[in-house]
Amino acid sequence: MTAIATDCPVTDQDLADWEFNQDPYPTMEAWRAMGPVVYNVRHDRYMVTSYRDCARVLGGVTKFNSQGSVEMFKAIFGGITMEALDSPRHNEMRGVWANDFQRDTLEAQRQLIERVVASQLDPFVQRVKSGEMVDAIPNMTRGIPTLVIAHMLGIETEMFEQFSAWSDAMGASTEGHLDPTPRGAKLVADGVAATKALNNHMAETIQKRRAAGTIGDEANDLVARMVYDPFSRSMQEQEIIASNTQLVFAGNETTAKLMASTLVALAMHPDQRRALAADRSLIPQAFEEVHRWQTLTQAIPRHACSDESDIGGIRIPNGAEVMPLQGAGNRDPQRWENADAFDIFRPQRQHLGFGFGMHVCLGLNLARLEAHIWLDQLLDKLPEYELAETIDYGRNFVLRGPVAVPVVAS
Ligand code: HEM
Repeated sequence: MTAIATDCPVTDQDLADWEFNQDPYPTMEAWRAMGPVVYNVRHDRYMVTSYRDCARVLGGVTKFNSQGSVEMFKAIFGGITMEALDSPRHNEMRGVWANDFQRDTLEAQRQLIERVVASQLDPFVQRVKSGEMVDAIPNMTRGIPTLVIAHMLGIETEMFEQFSAWSDAMGASTEGHLDPTPRGAKLVADGVAATKALNNHMAETIQKRRAAGTIGDEANDLVARMVYDPFSRSMQEQEIIASNTQLVFAGNETTAKLMASTLVALAMHPDQRRALAADRSLIPQAFEEVHRWQTLTQAIPRHACSDESDIGGIRIPNGAEVMPLQGAGNRDPQRWENADAFDIFRPQRQHLGFGFGMHVCLGLNLARLEAHIWLDQLLDKLPEYELAETIDYGRNFVLRGPVAVPVVAS
């Protein structure tokens, strides 16, 4: 337990509490009213409450770093990846795949994504239209990002359900890290086992790529890209395995849950859904508004790494864990007018849903492209639908999204 910073307001809110996670926004608003940073005594973390300060913490590696969370990242990915590095080595590692995730480069994946989206959406729409109530997550959104990244990595697409299961267990371990009960310990243990299994699978794939070519060869998939990149000579084997494991994991549950949140937001606001159906040029801003309004990664870990680390004038003890609350930042009334309202027409401003600064999401252009194509097809094929039940947001605050989205035709 770190010493509590002088003048810092305190809460003992359990972040793994089901009731809190159903709608954390009023509680986070109350924290923002208490000050720029609130110490959570239960979790021993300093929670940052405003947009400006979250961006400062995420963007300023000299006072707050990712390196301090290296053990947690290693537990999730099975080794060191770019996410746990703050040094120039971070940029070099990120540089291996940077071009593959540029918006222009990703255009080459458009047809693949359109095919994958149709393969998951069409059977779902057929069942809903025939009168069934269907959970959109396992029956539609979950498979889309897993299949796309499996294609891009050049790994076995027929194993996509296994990849999804492994990455879901890895995602659930983030919930386990906030839950000190035996249930939390089990989530962490299950996550570690899934990471190990996925690590083993990726290790075999990497060996196969090496057997097929040599460093400097032209690469036509993402595993090969890293294996053949001269930079990989300076990487330890476990870093290569963990980095590829991260790519399988990173975009899966996140993108699938955000698509699920999009379905919910548009079901709750049918007028805006109809406006979107009529004018598809609004799709990009509508998706960003969902992400602002129902932020998926509510918190990313950082550690204070200097005696000068402060948030809004409150000095944070060196080494203490800091939690920028992106969801709170994304509803900060200093940045957004009527911030609690869902409004796809609001003026666009950068939100924190994909992070901020040097670690900003590498895959954000891919997530956006998948979501835009999916939403366009959904509005064509199922423009009218309703939610059959109240949405349960479960207990995972770190990766917050609906547990199930039961859809019926309207
Ligand atoms: C809606 C979907 C997604 C969301 C909400 C999301 C969110 C985030 C966030 C908040 C970060 C910053 C983490 C930090 O600061 O420590 C991040 C980083 C990252 N994301 Fe995503 N992500 C999504 C999709 C993807 C996809 C599709 C990929 C790739 C296939 C991906 C790969 C990564 C990687 C490699 C990093 C680490 C970047 C670095 O440390 O430089 N993400 N993501």
